[in-house]
Amino acid sequence: MKNIEIISTGRAVPSKVVTNDDLAKIVDTNDEWISTRTGIRERRFCSEEESATTLAVEAARKALEASQLAPSDIGACICATISGDYATPSMACLVQRELGLREPIPTLDVNAACSGFLYGIEVARGLLNGCGEKYALVVGCEQLSKLLDMTDRSTCVLFGDGAGAAVVRLSEDATYASTLGARGGFEINVEGAGHGTSHIHMQGQEVFKFATSIIPVCIRQLQEKSGLSVEDVSRVVCHQANERIIDSVVRRMKADPGKFYKNMDRFGNTSAASVPIALDELVENGDVKAGDMLMMVGFGAGLTWAGAVIRYAGV
Ligand code: COA
Repeated sequence: MKNIEIISTGRAVPSKVVTNDDLAKIVDTNDEWISTRTGIRERRFCSEEESATTLAVEAARKALEASQLAPSDIGACICATISGDYATPSMACLVQRELGLREPIPTLDVNAACSGFLYGIEVARGLLNGCGEKYALVVGCEQLSKLLDMTDRSTCVLFGDGAGAAVVRLSEDATYASTLGARGGFEINVEGAGHGTSHIHMQGQEVFKFATSIIPVCIRQLQEKSGLSVEDVSRVVCHQANERIIDSVVRRMKADPGKFYKNMDRFGNTSAASVPIALDELVENGDVKAGDMLMMVGFGAGLTWAGAVIRYAGV
């Protein structure tokens, strides 16, 4: 089976910025509590005209344009989300339709919460190898604002909306490595369709302990498989749930904090979108250049976790 590399990225976030002070007007919280416990200062919420679908399509379109490929070159379309606008059609099918991708290509959503984008990369690898195709579009998109209980201050301050996308290509790059896992449980849960208004429920301290223990496990597994350590890669992109989770991992692993990208101060936790949004910012800022190796780690509801050591090859 061939490996996979990223050739282009894109992102889309709503224009409406919601600061911690804005939230303090509607729920009993304050900027000091939120920013010291999480590192989050603001997040984006969709307006009436925006949705998970519009964000996914915009991010996917940008990634496709940046790849310099035609829609007909794409051989699989995967969308990671827990907040799609429809139970069916999938978000991936809506992206396929809006971007004019070919009909006979596998197109599906992945539900692995905040690990979803990295699950999606590995699903893309399997599908491309299985179908004899070369390129796939992998999108992570969320409109979590519609799942927030704005009376539950311990969860509603954490999440935001956004989408990120990447075009990936099969490659012979032997340094690619991935790790995926899950431990079924209800530590973070959202009721499904048919349960009335769905909200995110979370056992914050349990999730914190899970996250800080699983990230080093993923990093060690990636190192064993790829031969590359945190020092050897250009950047480490962890899921952007909470600054204290990343800082705790950095301390525990005695790693270089500068390697670990953070943008949760501006976007909060955007679940499946957080890793590809961060990746697209790094590419746009020139912090990740063609040929660079990246380490990426996701963790979240399910419980699920996922990691990848992957090359940003560029076009
Ligand atoms: N504003 C002000 N006070 C708040 C608050 C808010 N938004 N949310 C909770 N509090 C209060 C609680 O009511 C509690 O008050 P009490 O001591 O009077 O009862 C106090 O703050 C401490 O609450 P606790 O839940 O113990 O806080 P914590 O230190 O565990 O921090 C989280 C809460 C959510 C920030 C933390 O558990 C966390 O980051 N967990 C991981 C969450 C995450 O990243 N999830 C996504 C993973 S993909």
